[in-house]
Amino acid sequence: MFGRAVRPGVPSGDLWFFERFARPYELFMPPADSAVVERALGLARRPVDRVVDVAGGPGRAARAVDAPERVVVDAAAGMLRRVPHGMAAVRGDASRLPLRSEAADAVLVVDALHHLPRTDAVVSEAERVLRPGGVLVIREFDRGTLRGRFLAVGERLIGFDSTFFTADELAGRLADAGFEAHVTDRGFDCTVVGVKPGSP
Ligand SMILES: C[S@@+](CC[C@H](N)C(=O)[O-])C[C@H]1O[C@@H](n2cnc3c(N)ncnc32)[C@H](O)[C@@H]1O
Repeated sequence: MFGRAVRPGVPSGDLWFFERFARPYELFMPPADSAVVERALGLARRPVDRVVDVAGGPGRAARAVDAPERVVVDAAAGMLRRVPHGMAAVRGDASRLPLRSEAADAVLVVDALHHLPRTDAVVSEAERVLRPGGVLVIREFDRGTLRGRFLAVGERLIGFDSTFFTADELAGRLADAGFEAHVTDRGFDCTVVGVKPGSP
């Protein structure tokens, strides 16, 4: 079992793990499901030219997207070193994105939201950086499923400070932040999409 409290000087939240295990993470994680992400991006009401992969690690989700410009934002330097050439890698906190307002057509948060301490701030930052008609795509693990409940217990045992939601709870958070919310995939792996209102 890994414990955060015994790592003085290591970043807070779940970041300590990703700084330490960036290389095995990249080696052992399967590619993101391109069809699922592209289907979610299809809800955008504007051309998806600039995609920002928030808490994107080595750019796993960004790699699954066909867009002219892909930007990976992550707080772990070790992860960003593994972002492929041709994508921008920017170090930053998901709850205070180092991007100007209305700078993106799509924001992805894939397998990461449960590790981010301030869910509402992450969602409102995504809303800020999106252009009208753009989409926030969240891929998560639904805590209402049996596997989701096991995962939540397992992550606690590892020492993570994770917070899981159901797909409907996530959709509610997105609606509260002003998005038009859709659940596009249900099950252990769920996809929740927020469309930012307004005309492109
Ligand atoms: C499970 S990984 C997911 C990475 C990637 N989205 C993927 O699908 O493989 C979680 C990521 O969240 C990042 N992270 C954790 N806390 C963060 C924060 N406050 N701001 C930005 N990134 C953060 C970690 O460094 C790690 O890369």
